[in-house]
Amino acid sequence: MNLPQGEREFEALLDYLKHERGCDLSGYKRTTLERRLQHRMQEINVVSYQDYIQYLQNHSEELKTLLDTVFINVSSFFRDRDIWDYLASSIIPRIIASKELDEPIRVWSAGCALGQEVYSLAILLAEALGIESYLERVQFYATDVDEDAIKQARFATYNDREVMGLPRDLLDKYFEQTEQGYVFDRILRSKIVFGCHNLTQDAPMSQIDLLFCRNVLMYFDKEAQASILVRFHFALKNLGFLVLGKSETLINRRPTFNPISVEHHVYKKSLNLELKDYLSINPKLNQKQALDATTRQIHIWQTAYQTSPFAQLAIAPNGRLVVANERANALFKLTPNDLNRPFKELEPGKLVGSSISLKTLYGGRSPMTLKNIEWSAYKETKYLDIFITPVFDRERRLLGINLTFIDSG
Ligand SMILES: C[S@@+](CC[C@H](N)C(=O)[O-])C[C@H]1O[C@@H](n2cnc3c(N)ncnc32)[C@H](O)[C@@H]1O
Repeated sequence: MNLPQGEREFEALLDYLKHERGCDLSGYKRTTLERRLQHRMQEINVVSYQDYIQYLQNHSEELKTLLDTVFINVSSFFRDRDIWDYLASSIIPRIIASKELDEPIRVWSAGCALGQEVYSLAILLAEALGIESYLERVQFYATDVDEDAIKQARFATYNDREVMGLPRDLLDKYFEQTEQGYVFDRILRSKIVFGCHNLTQDAPMSQIDLLFCRNVLMYFDKEAQASILVRFHFALKNLGFLVLGKSETLINRRPTFNPISVEHHVYKKSLNLELKDYLSINPKLNQKQALDATTRQIHIWQTAYQTSPFAQLAIAPNGRLVVANERANALFKLTPNDLNRPFKELEPGKLVGSSISLKTLYGGRSPMTLKNIEWSAYKETKYLDIFITPVFDRERRLLGINLTFIDSG
């Protein structure tokens, strides 16, 4: 394709960043990227993208500055207050009501920047559950692609200006005033797992009840957004909620997610997603691209399953092991030779068989949870929660059973 020179040079710059510097910016909206790059180039008096590549080669610290320009870490406590009020009055009570009193509540703030969103949500959960129950039940992941942002988020220290959005009583209750600034409560913070995570490349979390991804999707082009949404679909429990930023909307993106409240940008996932739904995520795709997109989506699902932080495996209706992910292989010392073997003969099969009959396992039509199952093997004792999910085709014929094993400690 004959692109104008400026565009060719821009593509060459993206190629250079991706292949030589390991930094893939291809999913970000072009117009925004170009604007930011131009701004940076003006600051250092570089005129063309070609010269900028040279500048990057000659100045080792420039890549970091460039990424700071692209990853905008702007955030604030209780940003867009009405949305937080809605979450506190409608969504969090729904999540709590849908669970047993001791069941975990799993939360993910994706693109958490400097942590203000994370701690706002931690406060909301602590207020709703009480501190004791928060500490027992909340499992909180906070991720961002920007390592420096994650470091600062972990540091949890904010100056006078940054805490301005916080009501005084919450500031006094949840922060300690130190010489460096206001520091978020250390004990509540201990429940939050911070990590570097790229939404367009890394496997998503799983079994999430509440997923925050605010003011992040808007930086991506349609295709990258669609691929991130598939990951979010995978990450969320069936009854989980997705919260987006104030200027982000998914109205045209059905059927991946349906709005719970358009006004407050809260969504739930639509169930029974099919291949054609994935294809329809981006109607502009032609057949060939659509196939590529499908292959990619399937690859994402497989990768997400394989690299999930939880041990997962699936058994066929004939009682044989069909698939086990990396965590399950490690936990139960399974090898490729175990595929297609009768599940009941394998270590996880014996473990499940110690709590329920295999007849119940294969006969159940609804998901089941086995709580706190003691498992002594390989010289140690663990306690596991086992989530059993039958998988059906469209005619409700059983395709298999998925089992997820989570250490309940
Ligand atoms: C404007 S901030 C949003 C902060 C917070 N969610 C809020 O709404 O206040 C956008 C964040 O998205 C992060 N981000 C950008 N690209 C990302 C990616 N590919 N994966 C994960 N996070 C990304 C940036 O580093 C930045 O911290």
